[in-house]
Amino acid sequence: MPIINSFRFTVFVCLTIGVYYLTSDSHSSHSGSHVRKKRAVVSSFDPQSYPQFCQTQGQIAVVFTEGPSKWTADVVTSLKTLKGVNASFFPVTTYLNDVANNVPLQLAAKAGYFIGQRWTTSVDPRSLSDDQIVSELLTECQRIQTYTSKVPKYIWMNYGQAVRRLGYVPLWWNLDTMDYNVTYNGSAASCNPIIKKYNDTFQLLPNGWGRYIAVERDLYQCTAVSVAGVFSTISAHNYTAVDMGTCLGDQNPYRTSCGTTSSSTTTASLAATESIAATEVQPTLTPTTSEGKSTAKGSQGYARHVPSLLITILLLAYVFIV
Ligand SMILES: *[C@@H]1O[C@H](CO)[C@@H](O)[C@H](O)[C@H]1NC(C)=O
Ligand SMILES: *[C@@H]1O[C@H](CO)[C@@H](O)[C@H](O)[C@H]1NC(C)=O
Ligand SMILES: *[C@@H]1O[C@H](CO)[C@@H](O)[C@H](O)[C@H]1NC(C)=O
Ligand SMILES: *[C@@H]1O[C@H](CO)[C@@H](O)[C@H](O)[C@H]1NC(C)=O
Ligand SMILES: *[C@@H]1O[C@H](CO)[C@@H](O)[C@H](O)[C@H]1NC(C)=O
Repeated sequence: MPIINSFRFTVFVCLTIGVYYLTSDSHSSHSGSHVRKKRAVVSSFDPQSYPQFCQTQGQIAVVFTEGPSKWTADVVTSLKTLKGVNASFFPVTTYLNDVANNVPLQLAAKAGYFIGQRWTTSVDPRSLSDDQIVSELLTECQRIQTYTSKVPKYIWMNYGQAVRRLGYVPLWWNLDTMDYNVTYNGSAASCNPIIKKYNDTFQLLPNGWGRYIAVERDLYQCTAVSVAGVFSTISAHNYTAVDMGTCLGDQNPYRTSCGTTSSSTTTASLAATESIAATEVQPTLTPTTSEGKSTAKGSQGYARHVPSLLITILLLAYVFIV
């Protein structure tokens, strides 16, 4: 009697397909519960769940935030001498009443650099009510609009309770230059730790393989002094410096209006809206990305199929032996 005949073969194929789908189904409901768990984390505003790197391999968005300051003008002047380089500014509006600060921000916007918003660093939003946060965001947005004609959509704000209701998308980064820790001593070499931070990060992967959102602070002289060096290191490692809209693949990276304070929602419905919005803005993590986090997700993806494959192999063995 042959080891395999058409009856056995048919039984084998049907069993295998059936078992594969059964086990896969149980896995998709597992991942469903992962999503629910993730939403809960997001609604407690863990910044790590915000988009924190570009969607396209080889792209980096460099963001100058927490300014503007007297160094912002130098940053913009240096940027403008660099061809094919885009960058983003996420200003804190506390300083915008001073002409020494608002003029460079206007210049940045006029030159075509991206404008976002940084929640004022001097107020902890956890100390404010939801309505106070909305009101503060509105004021900040209007100031930015006054000086740049842009209505920011992307914002840096941890613990943001009211952000998504107003149409904002909160962001995070995966490359911190720690420029606040670097002091200018009269020589450009003293600012090299900022450039080295990019170099060290890029070394972790083959050139052009990663995708990054890098944060700098246009509050420090070294941040301005190192601009040319930073962007030449970026291109030397085969990365393209893009604005935030391009980085996130967003065709409409600004809102149309700063909004109003009148639209008050209950906390419960606010929380629900926010968890949904939060899942929508999750960056797509694929095994091809660079970040340790995504690689881990990638291998989880393969691991998911291991039980189904094992069962299939066992069935195969059974059909052939019996
Ligand atoms: C930055 O990118 C945006 C979007 O592609 C573009 O509109 C803008 O002109 C660019 N700015 C510069 C300085 O290249
Ligand atoms: C800050 O700089 C000092 C001296 O340059 C260095 O020892 C320290 O590790 C730096 N801290 C961070 C957080 O980078
Ligand atoms: C400034 O810092 C650089 C690099 O750390 C160092 O080589 C240089 O000697 C310093 N210059 C002065 C004047 O301290
Ligand atoms: C960074 O990398 C570039 C290109 O590899 C190199 O020319 C430069 O000397 C490096 N700079 C620092 C500060 O490490
Ligand atoms: C950058 O990319 C180009 C074309 O893709 C390649 O020829 C070149 O070797 C790359 N440079 C580095 C430093 O990897």
